[in-house]
Amino acid sequence: MLKCLNAIIISSGLFFAAWSDAASSEKFGLGRLATQQEIKAWNIDIRPDGSGLPKGSGSVVTGEEIYLEQCASCHGEFGEAVGRWPALSGGEDTLKDDDPVKTVGSYWPYLSTVWDYVNRAMPFGNAQSLSVNDVYAVTAYILNLNDLVDDDFVLSRSNFKDIAMPNKGGFYNDDRKDTEIWSAREVCMSDCKKHVEITARARVLDVTPEQEAKRSGREQPTNKSKAETSQEASLAGENVKLLLRGEKVFNKCKSCHALGESAKHKIGPHLNGIFGKAAGQQTGFKRYSKSILLAGENGLIWDNRNLTEFLISPKKKVRGTKMVFVGLKKPEDIEAVIYYIRSADKE
Ligand code: HEC
Ligand code: HEC
Repeated sequence: MLKCLNAIIISSGLFFAAWSDAASSEKFGLGRLATQQEIKAWNIDIRPDGSGLPKGSGSVVTGEEIYLEQCASCHGEFGEAVGRWPALSGGEDTLKDDDPVKTVGSYWPYLSTVWDYVNRAMPFGNAQSLSVNDVYAVTAYILNLNDLVDDDFVLSRSNFKDIAMPNKGGFYNDDRKDTEIWSAREVCMSDCKKHVEITARARVLDVTPEQEAKRSGREQPTNKSKAETSQEASLAGENVKLLLRGEKVFNKCKSCHALGESAKHKIGPHLNGIFGKAAGQQTGFKRYSKSILLAGENGLIWDNRNLTEFLISPKKKVRGTKMVFVGLKKPEDIEAVIYYIRSADKE
């Protein structure tokens, strides 16, 4: 990430310079040319192949002195970390654990990143205070802490590339395009689904953690008044009650109607997507009565009112319907079952 950020900064600097030159006949009055000094100050990234490294060297022995003085207070004498500061050593063979310990030794693929990071950002709070040779030395010492070089090792630009980091092979280019199973198939990228499926309604499930926040005494993240919030909470509670009641009422319909994902037609059609549809329109149901088909053609839409009337008395609402059902008596039951059907809507 660091590399990337750096590259952006540098390239924007260079880009600006190039762009200004080319556009010198047409000025927009924005900014100014980056100076050579500024570009030099930005352009400090070190690449995995070592390019960007300045001339210099430093030994493990010198590195230890600098480290104990300027780094150990946070990273620990042996890189084991003090408190919650990051560890710089250890963690070998933990990368596949649930809780991997990612350190320079166990995780980092390139030594150049260590050099770059220390040079750029450490010691924390006094960044870029180390000399080039100090950075070489402290980098050598971090390698030593991870048992990657001996005590008498001296790191320099010339032997930098010889150091192989243990996890180098753990990083590779993203090859999922070729290796994943779906790469063999044409992948659909737009309009892949005819209908949007609403599988649950957050309002009904009451997933909004308003009450949770209240219980633990945290600040409400919204600027709603308490009255509004509790009104909503009780509304959500109402909805759940309605839903439960609807589910119970629907037991009376279940012998003939299915609802929900993978619902099939039974004696009656499945009722997915029925709300708002014209009567007699459930695809694949072959046993509609002529009367209900005709009612649909004549504009009978299953809205709240029509459904309510139909459920009070199917035969009265659609004379000659095949739905043999005495009808529901209680208005609350009807309201609840309609609510339930709409909530389970899976078309
Ligand atoms: C005051 C505490 C402190 C001191 C002193 C300090 N560091 Fe750090 N170091 C940090 C913090 C905090 C981070 C993590 C920064 C972040 O993630 O943005 C870090 C990160 C690092 C990392 C990257 C670790 C990783 O796995 O992400 C290295 C390498 C490192 N420091 C080396 C050094 C060296 C070398 C010195 C001494 C020259 C030093 N640090 C001094 C606090 C400190
Ligand atoms: C004994 C079986 C049976 C029961 C019980 C039953 N239905 Fe029906 N229902 C049918 C049949 C059969 C149809 C098709 C009517 C027709 O073709 O005239 C139907 C049609 C419907 C329709 C119209 C479907 C369409 O595509 O236009 C709705 C809505 C409906 N029923 C809701 C319910 C509800 C809600 C309940 C329970 C409260 C219920 N039904 C109970 C058999 C039943």
